[in-house]
Amino acid sequence: MVQIEINGLSLGYGARKVLQDLNVRVNKGDFISIIGPSGEGKTTLLMGLNGTIKIFEGELHILDYAVHKITNSSLKRLRSRIGVIFQTFNLVKRMSVLDNIASGMLCKIGLIPAIIKYYNHEQYFKIYEYAKIVGLEKEILKRCDMLSGGQMQRVAIARALAQEPEIILADEPISSLDPVSARKVMEILKNINKKYGITIISNLHQIHYAREYCSRIIGINGGRIVFDGAPDLLTDDMIERIYRRNGEQHGDDDVYVYYSEPAVVNA
Ligand SMILES: Nc1ncnc2c1ncn2[C@@H]1O[C@H](COP(=O)(O)OP(=O)(O)OP(=O)(O)O)[C@@H](O)[C@H]1O
Ligand SMILES: [Mg+2]
Repeated sequence: MVQIEINGLSLGYGARKVLQDLNVRVNKGDFISIIGPSGEGKTTLLMGLNGTIKIFEGELHILDYAVHKITNSSLKRLRSRIGVIFQTFNLVKRMSVLDNIASGMLCKIGLIPAIIKYYNHEQYFKIYEYAKIVGLEKEILKRCDMLSGGQMQRVAIARALAQEPEIILADEPISSLDPVSARKVMEILKNINKKYGITIISNLHQIHYAREYCSRIIGINGGRIVFDGAPDLLTDDMIERIYRRNGEQHGDDDVYVYYSEPAVVNA
């Protein structure tokens, strides 16, 4: 089932197009990593999928919403179906693990019960289950500022799960973590991708994790997608092309797209 369809999309800020002529099709259950040099537009693409970035031209369809012509109320509904995870976790650190996870269920709990931290049995049970999925059920009453970075990121994942999202967008989820914590976070993402069929799209700087955990890799350079394929197609030569610097341009015959349309440009 196609969840995201991007046709001829350009995204950017003010008058500046950062990404151009994007063509991507994402199926339910994909686990995609976006790689590329710093400042090339990985975060812009990810946040574009959340309807946060200006669309210059083209079409962006996500979960049956046409984001290129969406109204504010529809955008709110779309965002409630997409979980977002950031490098810096974005938790309320003085609150407990439990209350942070509960904040992902705000629209189900209601604003007033959430403010006074009144959850019913079913809600407590669900919060516990989400904490368990990320291996933090024993820490559930701890304040988040007592946790390690890796644990905080796992709370952020549990909070995203509490939204019951169909898609999770993760912007550099492991960049500030040590290798052991990073691996644990990638394992959890992989597990929720497989077990619950949640589509995950994650920006990553660590190519070896992208290769190991993801089903598909998208490489960005020069404001365009220059690679879109399975991890085993990501050769060292391809990595060099994706990370090419100093204004060396990719021509149309230097683009390797194995997924989405057009199916194979230059295989
Ligand atoms: N809010 C903004 N307003 C204007 N320009 C922006 C804004 N955010 C990002 N940019 C510019 O858009 C370009 C792409 O930035 P983006 O953050 O998407 O890159 P990135 O690939 O995620 O980089 P990194 O790997 O460092 O996170 C950069 O030139 C950046 O300066
Ligand atoms: Mg970024």
